Amino acid sequence: MDKQTLIKALNDDLSYELQAVLAYTRWSAEVSGPHRDSLRAMFQREIPDELMHAQFLTDKIVIYGGTPEMKPAAIPNASSNRDKLKAVLDMEAQAIKNYSQRAQQAEELNETGLKVRLEEMVNDETEHYETIQMLLRDWNESV
Ligand SMILES: [Fe+2]
Ligand SMILES: [Fe+2]
Repeated sequence: MDKQTLIKALNDDLSYELQAVLAYTRWSAEVSGPHRDSLRAMFQREIPDELMHAQFLTDKIVIYGGTPEMKPAAIPNASSNRDKLKAVLDMEAQAIKNYSQRAQQAEELNETGLKVRLEEMVNDETEHYETIQMLLRDWNESV
């Protein structure tokens, strides 16, 4: 892994953070039914974390001499509340996997500061994942 490959990978990560910001904003508007208030609040609570991750990745790409592409990945299709939560669970699981791998690559390049921040992001995404996991636990009705 060289710096150019790392910049490309960070741009991919950035596209998923922007996707999360847009998806959570959209889904906070679309959630419906008796659980609307709590689901809307949950989506809105996670948006600032994802924005902070996007800003961090954008800063690092520029510092490493790259160009931040700012192209969000497409928002997954999810019509029901439950489908939205399952889509989020997948997105957070992917983020945990990607940042764990990226932290190892940062270590290989002796970028200790980047590695530490990426590990903190693994922690943030794990907390998001566990929040959604608990919401989905024993949720059998279609609401
Ligand atoms: Fe994130
Ligand atoms: Fe997240």
